[in-house]
Amino acid sequence: GKAGKFMTKKIILDCDPGHDDALAMMLAVASPKIELLAVTTSAGNQTPDKTLNNAMRMLKLLGREDIPIAGGNRTPLVKPLETAGEVHGESGLDGYPLPEPDFQPVDLTAIELIAKMLNESSTPVTLVVTGPMTNAALFLRVYPELAKAKIDQIVYMGGAMGLGNWQPSVEFNIFVDPEAAKIVMNFGIPLVMAPLNVTHQAQILKPEIEALKQIKNPVGQAFYGLLSFFERYHENPKWGFQGAPLHDPCTIAWLIEPEMFQTEKMNVDVETTGELTRGETVCDYYQLTSKPQNTEVMLGINRQRFIEMIMEALHSFD
Ligand code: BDR
Ligand code: CA
Repeated sequence: GKAGKFMTKKIILDCDPGHDDALAMMLAVASPKIELLAVTTSAGNQTPDKTLNNAMRMLKLLGREDIPIAGGNRTPLVKPLETAGEVHGESGLDGYPLPEPDFQPVDLTAIELIAKMLNESSTPVTLVVTGPMTNAALFLRVYPELAKAKIDQIVYMGGAMGLGNWQPSVEFNIFVDPEAAKIVMNFGIPLVMAPLNVTHQAQILKPEIEALKQIKNPVGQAFYGLLSFFERYHENPKWGFQGAPLHDPCTIAWLIEPEMFQTEKMNVDVETTGELTRGETVCDYYQLTSKPQNTEVMLGINRQRFIEMIMEALHSFD
């Protein structure tokens, strides 16, 4: 049903698809509570040309070629680019032959497109970041007044409280561009964080992936192939997973149904100089500093409900 126009949340999705980024985009497109104003892409899971092409292939699959899309940074702010081919494959979105896009990105850079959408919106917009924060940081540095006036919150997947998935205490998105993350976290716009602590609970189990096979529409079929591929990397028993952690969709699920999550407010900052910890998110859970509680951190999720939401969204393309 229609949630009513006043209830819809306007968002811009800055992503690096990526299997879980693609699923986050699908959730956003499917939800009547979300209006996806634009998509911008970052270099991360794969090189910038590949992530842009993947995001366009997803928009085509979802039948939303009308949503403006622009490519962003080609490298992180300081570090050389490192990608995650072993997780997401050579294309960045291996596992299903997606349709090639028959449309063009807008003739703007990512940060120019973000600025255009914010200027055109009379109401605040949420920036959702599911890749490295390079574009977000550049945007805040180039358009600080516009950002303060028009972005109500930045909801991101990244970091962890005491965990890592790329280095012992470093999560991939922050690992790729820690300096960008530091700019974003210290800018002053309220933040909502989906760290590994919650995304590792947000697993789609193997039998649930198998069940996707029964969703006969093209979006369901595509995600059956994509998630079957994505799951393989996570089968290594060292992780202790029973399926695949759906990191990035936690951001969109939180916007649609925040009751699904347990959260805590705290200061979160980034280590950028540590010998062993460059890119570690430092989460002041016990309020040991007087730094502002800049971040609402997701720590728990109703996994069952999360998977139901994903299934319903996939069926909405019937
Ligand atoms: C994050 O890294 C990427 O590989 C995923 O898309 C997700 O955004 C998880 O650490
Ligand atoms: Ca991502």
